[in-house]
Amino acid sequence: MPPLKRDPSLVPLSHDHHEGLLRVFFLRQALRAGQGLEHQAKVTREFFDADLVPHFRAEEEVLFPLLRPLLGADDGSIDALLAEHRVLEALTARLDGTPDRMREYADLLERHIRAEERQLFERYQELVPVPDRAEIESRLRAELARAKAKSSACRVS
Ligand SMILES: [Fe+2]
Ligand SMILES: [Fe+2]
Repeated sequence: MPPLKRDPSLVPLSHDHHEGLLRVFFLRQALRAGQGLEHQAKVTREFFDADLVPHFRAEEEVLFPLLRPLLGADDGSIDALLAEHRVLEALTARLDGTPDRMREYADLLERHIRAEERQLFERYQELVPVPDRAEIESRLRAELARAKAKSSACRVS
């Protein structure tokens, strides 16, 4: 899996990606079996609120602003990924056991994660100087922790 060859500073995000791909696997398994669809939709909505909302926040507050100037003005990949975050949020809000919705959701989540792992994270490893990466990792971890604390507070209230 990707985390094995990842720079340590990106491992927290790659860990979430791994969990996301497992969700995609379970959604597709339920679709093939034609059962457990409602349950998988519910677990996926919970996973989104608890893990992907903080994950998007860490990418949007730390990783994307850092990479945007390094990638240059002609590179549209950050804008495309940001747009996909917004679409995934909208799809999550209406995710239920309807097969078409689950299929659309699984396809986009997988495509998004693979684009980050195969293209964005590779570019990071080419462009970001190694001595800068420990600081980036602590900022990513801090943002993830802050957003996760906020999202669990929201669930309690
Ligand atoms: Fe993302
Ligand atoms: Fe991501």
